[in-house]
Amino acid sequence: MTYVVNENCIRCKTMDCVEVCPVDCFYEGENMLVIHPDECIDCGVCEPECPVDAIRPDTEPGLEKWLSLNAEYSRSGRTSRSKKRPHPTGKSGTEWPTYCDIFRQILAQVTETGN
Ligand code: SF4
Ligand code: F3S
Repeated sequence: MTYVVNENCIRCKTMDCVEVCPVDCFYEGENMLVIHPDECIDCGVCEPECPVDAIRPDTEPGLEKWLSLNAEYSRSGRTSRSKKRPHPTGKSGTEWPTYCDIFRQILAQVTETGN
């Protein structure tokens, strides 16, 4: 078993997950982070840290595509370790006008309405 990053991370990349991973198995691509399946020790610490619910265990159904993508990009060398460095814009995740913010707003609305 491993954990995988899904589409919710795309253009979001708050990097909260990187801060807590004990084995530094997150790799950074241009638009999202991925988890190296052979390096992840399945501790689960990162899952609740992601504000947009982008990290899921690979035992969940429907994640096959994302498991393959995480494996491919973490092994291909097209990604690099984030190593807890700040986002290149110099802004925190809450300051980026990206899909991440839109997703947060939707989550907040759903939580408020209970729908
Ligand atoms: Fe890192 Fe643990 Fe998350 Fe795997 S489950 S990516 S080892 S924090
Ligand atoms: Fe992406 Fe969530 Fe980490 S948005 S960078 S998986 S905290």
